[in-house]
Amino acid sequence: GVPTFQRVTPSHLKTMTGRKGKPAWSSWQGKVYNITPYLPFHPGGEAELMKAAGRDGTKLFMDVHPWVNWENMLGSCLVGVMVPEDFAKE
Ligand code: HEM
Repeated sequence: GVPTFQRVTPSHLKTMTGRKGKPAWSSWQGKVYNITPYLPFHPGGEAELMKAAGRDGTKLFMDVHPWVNWENMLGSCLVGVMVPEDFAKE
């Protein structure tokens, strides 16, 4: 079916750490990705990628490999977009 995308607040993102049965999410330029399915495939290892779990991964990512295309590689893992903490719920 057609994927639905969520509005993700900073406090919600913080809870998506990959622990306690939750998937690991990380944001990249305002977009939120589920990084859990990619963990076993990350050439830099799972531990490195998990540093970006539950937070904005942009800086970590850009410090290591700015030439890698996150958006293309994790396109199918897009969860939604970041919104401000007080963003009005539907
Ligand atoms: C290597 C993808 C996030 C650390 C790589 C490579 C790819 C990749 C394709 C191989 C690059 C090359 O050889 O030119 C991704 C994707 C990410 C991500 C799609 C986000 C979803 C991160 C993060 C970190 C990280 C957040 C650090 C906190 C590394 C390291 C290597 C690496 C250290 C080098 C491994 C080596 O050459 O021994 N990653 N990465 N990556 N990545 Fe990531």
